[in-house]
Amino acid sequence: MVFNKWRIVNPTGTRRVIVTKELPGDRWLNILTSASCRVEIFSSVEVLSVEDIRKAIGSDCDGAIGQLTESWGNELFSALKEADGKAYSNYAVGFNNIDLASATSHGIPVGNTPGVLTETTAEMAVALTFAAARRIGESERYLRAGKYKGWLPDLFLGELLRHRTVGIIGAGRIGAAYARMMMEGHKMNVLYYDLSQNLALEDYTKEYSRFLTDRNESPVTCLQSETVEELLRLSDVVSIHTVLSESTHHLINAERLAMMKKNAVLVNTSRGPVIDEAALVNHCRRNPDFRAGLDVFEEEPLLKPGLEELENVVIVPHIASATIWTRQGMATLAASNVAAVLMGYPAWNRPDITAFLEPDPPKAAPSILNARDLGLNIF
Ligand code: DGY
Repeated sequence: MVFNKWRIVNPTGTRRVIVTKELPGDRWLNILTSASCRVEIFSSVEVLSVEDIRKAIGSDCDGAIGQLTESWGNELFSALKEADGKAYSNYAVGFNNIDLASATSHGIPVGNTPGVLTETTAEMAVALTFAAARRIGESERYLRAGKYKGWLPDLFLGELLRHRTVGIIGAGRIGAAYARMMMEGHKMNVLYYDLSQNLALEDYTKEYSRFLTDRNESPVTCLQSETVEELLRLSDVVSIHTVLSESTHHLINAERLAMMKKNAVLVNTSRGPVIDEAALVNHCRRNPDFRAGLDVFEEEPLLKPGLEELENVVIVPHIASATIWTRQGMATLAASNVAAVLMGYPAWNRPDITAFLEPDPPKAAPSILNARDLGLNIF
């Protein structure tokens, strides 16, 4: 039924690559066509089912670029392998939609798109933090509904965040970028929960505090919390930046929400199922001063009953990485992953991928998640 919605670019290319959504910009297409790929793009907003994608892979497919809305498990990786497929890239940094072990067992390298979402996603987490703390959604709805009759001393009182404590769950690239924005911009003290210590962030904070004290301003702190519970009890704002895994599924549940300050702000730009959304709905209902800013949901695109009616919740449709620069960068990286593997190039796999956005990129695949397990050469 959906097969008439595929657009073909470079039909005479010798390598067949399927792309399950139109991607922004055109650099990514040039990368693939320069690697002699015939590119077949599903040009519709519908989410393809596993069966649709299996049919699109067909009997001859060298590579694929897929979306976080699709489930790339054993069925698709074995279909890709049987079609002589050699490369897959997610158009996302997150890869909870992929069964990596299965891809590895079929010998298929799996790419993702790190490094270009960091600041963009952190900025959205900041935006959601303030939208929630300062009641932007709620007050805008009030104004648009014609209810504003004049300035009042107590109209939409929110929270001042300056010098308060922000808790970061997951202090990787995005979490650390958000931490710095909140620390430098708003002089918030940072508490973070992560299995690894983020020494770079801690050292940076010390240097920054010296800078502040030299100017007679109060210093800021950055401390690793021993437990999630401790972080939840002490923080005025909690922002989630962890991956979704079995151990982080429903990390924020009813019991842990109850530990948070009654007027805390909870922000999630990671993956929806990290929060038990039904428990959050109950918590926000019972605690009108508690606020949440959500970019992601447990069963996207659906919302748990009651969520959209809550005035103390700000919701946006998974757009944290939605800037032109980032989404074009993600397309460049995903195409570079697939093209490089097809050309037999090694994996780059270094934290800084900006070289791939420059005019003369390295002859390598920017980020292959299972490069080591597959014994691929590293650049
Ligand atoms: C990702 O890349 O994982 C993001 O969720 C996309 O916005």
